[in-house]
Amino acid sequence: MATIIPVASFDCVVFGATGDLTARKLLPALFYRFRDGQIPETSRIIGASRSELSLDAFREHARDALKRFVPAADLTDDVLGRFLDHVDYVAVDGAGDSGWTDLVAKLDERPDQVRPYYLATSPDLYGSICRNLAAHGLVGEKSRVVLEKPIGKDLKSARAINDAVGEVFPESQIFRIDHYLGKETVQNLLSLRFANTIFERLWTSDVIDHVQITVAETVGVEGRAGYYDTSGAMRDMLQNHILQLLCLTAMESPLNLEANSVRDEKLKVLRALKPITTHDIQSVTVRGQYVAGAVDGKPVEGYLAELGHESRTETFVAMKVEIQSGRWAGVPFYLRTGKRLPQKLSEIVVQFRASPFSIFPEEAFGREPNRLVIRLQPQEGMKLEVMTKDPGPGGLRLRPTDLDISFEETFKQRYPDAYERLLMDVVRGNATLFMRRDEVEAAWAWADGVLKAWADRPEAPRPYPAGSWGPTAAIALIERDGRTWHEELR
Ligand code: BG6
Repeated sequence: MATIIPVASFDCVVFGATGDLTARKLLPALFYRFRDGQIPETSRIIGASRSELSLDAFREHARDALKRFVPAADLTDDVLGRFLDHVDYVAVDGAGDSGWTDLVAKLDERPDQVRPYYLATSPDLYGSICRNLAAHGLVGEKSRVVLEKPIGKDLKSARAINDAVGEVFPESQIFRIDHYLGKETVQNLLSLRFANTIFERLWTSDVIDHVQITVAETVGVEGRAGYYDTSGAMRDMLQNHILQLLCLTAMESPLNLEANSVRDEKLKVLRALKPITTHDIQSVTVRGQYVAGAVDGKPVEGYLAELGHESRTETFVAMKVEIQSGRWAGVPFYLRTGKRLPQKLSEIVVQFRASPFSIFPEEAFGREPNRLVIRLQPQEGMKLEVMTKDPGPGGLRLRPTDLDISFEETFKQRYPDAYERLLMDVVRGNATLFMRRDEVEAAWAWADGVLKAWADRPEAPRPYPAGSWGPTAAIALIERDGRTWHEELR
């Protein structure tokens, strides 16, 4: 059973309180932590936005959000009512002058609270909000600032944001969220690799043939076309979530679980990524954009129709990446992510090398090398494919069989959303699952190379029908190397 350790009492100020992220993720996450007794009764969640709302109106807004995004079975009137008593509101212009004295007055009521400032706003406002917080005496030892992605759209803009925030907050008080790091199975990667001798010993180029990381989504751009069209799959998913998964899969053992030890090792992986240049861009990357098709049996329109204008933004990307280190020399990492793919699926597949010699006769030996599949979502779990004997008479025949662990079935408990864990870590001041400045910048430095190489050869992304696994060129990308994507349909 999970052990709930209450955190210190806090006042969490959420800038962008009327926005989508607050409704969809932050309020539900805080609700669950409150319901489970992790949030002390003296804590407050203080919504902050420019809208002149009364407290009642904001609580009504929060109630509606919870009704939409928390399953009804978890939302009893009693707990919902008690949770909303902890929700407060201040109308404040993050980038301007109005409302700050009201916020100061509210926070002064409880001077000893831990104070996370969650910036669920456009990144353009991060610098001004931080400067305002400092100017109004709201930054102290117990404050932390939480930054949502995107932190910039390239290295230059990421540095500008980091500089502006860094003028006010020391690095130890800056929490850059990559919500993939809060997913249970992503943290499980650390347990799998470093708490099990069997895997860590095998985690080398002698034994591993290649690694695949897939983050597939069925959704389109979901009303975020304005943002998405300036971003695309590379900036929205690959530069952050997928590179973080790659880091946890490939990094050396950290000295311990302290934030800087883990982040030092991830940083080494990012710095060891082989640059992709104009010369090899076409052979190691594929950009795609969905056209009309069907997902889950329902017809859906193409990206351009959703957007309403021409665009060369990619909604799919696949690439072959190399890590220049002794451990990974010659082991390609195939990465892919896209919208409007056939299923929502995030997984890391570690494909071991085929056995170099077999005592089994050719006809008995399936020649299937072992494969470890780590499933992040849905149905979190892990599966190791091993060769076993086919039961019964008929000669000795081998076939791959799964050692399959479904975490849900094994642990029979609800899997918390990533934001629940991350928000509590912010209050505790534990930054292990957050990105340090140099990590974000190293990821951008590498991604900028890819973006520049694409810009140097401005070809339109390849079309793929919604509901397919991306353009055929993505299949060719891996098949040219004599390998195939792991595709397990529901
Ligand atoms: C976000 C991206 O960071 O992650 C979205 O901006 C994407 O475009 C989302 O849909 C995916 O997150 P999850 O947790 O649903 O896999």
